[in-house]
Amino acid sequence: MEFSEGKNPSTTDEIGELEKSAKSWIAERAAEIEQLQRHESYRKEFLGNVSHELKTPIFNIQGYISTLLDGGLDDPKINRPFLVKAEKSVERMINIVDDLQSISQLERGVLELHEEWFDIVALAKDVFDAMELKAKERNITFELVNDLELPIIVNGDKFRIRQVLVNLVVNSIRYGKENGVTRIKINDIGDKSFVEVTDNGIGIAKEHLPRIFERFYRVDKSRSRELGGTGLGLAIVKHIIEAHNQKISVLSTEGVGSVFSFTLKMGSTT
Ligand SMILES: Nc1ncnc2c1ncn2[C@@H]1O[C@H](COP(=O)(O)OP(=O)(O)O)[C@@H](O)[C@H]1O
Ligand SMILES: [Mg+2]
Repeated sequence: MEFSEGKNPSTTDEIGELEKSAKSWIAERAAEIEQLQRHESYRKEFLGNVSHELKTPIFNIQGYISTLLDGGLDDPKINRPFLVKAEKSVERMINIVDDLQSISQLERGVLELHEEWFDIVALAKDVFDAMELKAKERNITFELVNDLELPIIVNGDKFRIRQVLVNLVVNSIRYGKENGVTRIKINDIGDKSFVEVTDNGIGIAKEHLPRIFERFYRVDKSRSRELGGTGLGLAIVKHIIEAHNQKISVLSTEGVGSVFSFTLKMGSTT
């Protein structure tokens, strides 16, 4: 019979080494377990939020369909309006699923950025054009401020940066006040461009500010839902900016308005 060929840990030094590595092994496992538990509670919370968000439109659609089946179909005061409502709820579900898809790609880190050089001033104009009708509903005016009045060429994934601007502008309208103003200001600060989206809307109270980039966090849940929000917009925005190795921040005063600002890598102005 043969026993282990390894040396016996006969000296105190060797025993000390063994103890040390055992201790660090235990510490590593403990850290791993803690991380797994964190992931697990994070996953549960996420699933809980998702099902909660989807429940509302699903139950609404179910209600509209039941009413239609229970005789509403023949009532001209009910049939068309309820189908329109059902369509709205379906749109809402699509919004939620789209945002969930974006956030899950961003959080898994599988989102590939397609970086290119583009003019951020032109992109901001394009976003304002696309949002014009939405702004009109609340009589909100758009202003684009670019002191140099030249194109500002930045580096980034144009499609994703557009998504950032759209989310910030939609928020500025959604949480802006009637007859208010949304301003995009683009500055060139050396090797970076600095983009600010400002509104003079309801603002955000100090205690909520640190949390508004968390997914599903909203200051006023019912207002956000009513206006078609998913609570995911700013989480998506932050992920996109951070994927570009850039920063986003917010300044806001309740009742006065908010400024969301982020940086982008600059190229040469041509
Ligand atoms: N420009 C803004 N003015 C005031 N509050 C805002 C603004 N942008 C975001 N918020 C607050 O932050 C919350 C999270 O924003 P977001 O992630 O875009 O979700 P939502 O889908 O609710 O718009 C909003 O529900 C709102 O309470
Ligand atoms: Mg939003």
